[in-house]
Amino acid sequence: MNKIAIISASVRAGRNSHRVALYLKSVIEEKQLGSVTMLDLAVYNFPVFDERLHLQKSPSAQALEFAEKINSADGVIIVTPEYNGGYPASLKNVIDLLYQEWQRKPVGISTVSDGGFAGMNVITSLQFSLWKIRAWTISAMFPVPKVTSTFNELGVPGDKEATDKRALSFLNEMLWCIEAKRRMDNKSNSQI
Ligand SMILES: Cc1cc2nc3c(=O)[nH]c(=O)nc-3n(C[C@H](O)[C@H](O)[C@H](O)COP(=O)(O)O)c2cc1C
Repeated sequence: MNKIAIISASVRAGRNSHRVALYLKSVIEEKQLGSVTMLDLAVYNFPVFDERLHLQKSPSAQALEFAEKINSADGVIIVTPEYNGGYPASLKNVIDLLYQEWQRKPVGISTVSDGGFAGMNVITSLQFSLWKIRAWTISAMFPVPKVTSTFNELGVPGDKEATDKRALSFLNEMLWCIEAKRRMDNKSNSQI
């Protein structure tokens, strides 16, 4: 069973992008594509970290738990809003917190906005940071425009059929990358 972690990046009171995180969790579970752990940054309520986790002298239990969840996930989906053309500080905080945990990790990105452009300005800066930290960002995306009119607060889409079709295309690419990584990891292990 694939282990998928979903990072819901908005910590804003009254946030809307969390609807998409809830939706992706429900699709993965409904279609039995894997098990899902929701890493909700609003729930973690992390401080701005003053050092990377592996160099912290007294890391918090929550930070260690977050790191373990990323480390043990076969793939990570990041659901992020666009704030002034970039991704939120809450997300940069946890990307920079970790290092080894991100390496070769298949990561899928879902950008969300309540405007018509689906938060797509985030992609270049987020892709670049993830590339720098040696995550494996998958080429498929799940951009969501006009989130408040297309999903309700529980993450149920108005047009389930069309939304599921788009989500499955995104998720299948992620599953392909997870399987490719699994095979390479097995091959490397057997050669050692
Ligand atoms: C500080 C701030 C900046 C924002 N900047 C943008 C933006 O540049 N482009 C955009 O489409 N939406 C922008 N939005 C609106 C978000 O798309 C909207 O809040 C959406 O619901 C996703 O963010 P949320 O999950 O925090 O609600 C901004 C919202 C905030 C709070």
